[in-house]
Amino acid sequence: MLVRLLYVSQPVGPITTTMTTLILEKSDANNKTENITGVLCQGSGLWMQVLEGERSKVNLLYSKIMADRNHQ
Ligand SMILES: Cc1cc2nc3c(=O)[nH]c(=O)nc-3n(C[C@H](O)[C@H](O)[C@H](O)COP(=O)(O)O)c2cc1C
Repeated sequence: MLVRLLYVSQPVGPITTTMTTLILEKSDANNKTENITGVLCQGSGLWMQVLEGERSKVNLLYSKIMADRNHQ
């Protein structure tokens, strides 16, 4: 089943272009392999991301992202 997941998170430190670029490069590589699409926005000191794909794959990726210590 195709699902869409939206979350907002707060970076642990300031958002830098380097950090966002690294996340986008990683996302581009990993998400393509899993047929997951999405969008990552930053603003007001927050990240907002939408992920769309097969339910189990999106859940797995979301667990991985939530374990990332760069945000809370
Ligand atoms: C706000 C935020 C969004 C992220 N989005 C993705 C994503 O869409 N896809 C992804 O693979 N990693 C994403 N990451 C990075 C993951 O938390 C993790 O570091 C990465 O998936 C590890 O990849 P690897 O197992 O190939 O080393 C994101 C990290 C943050 C902080």
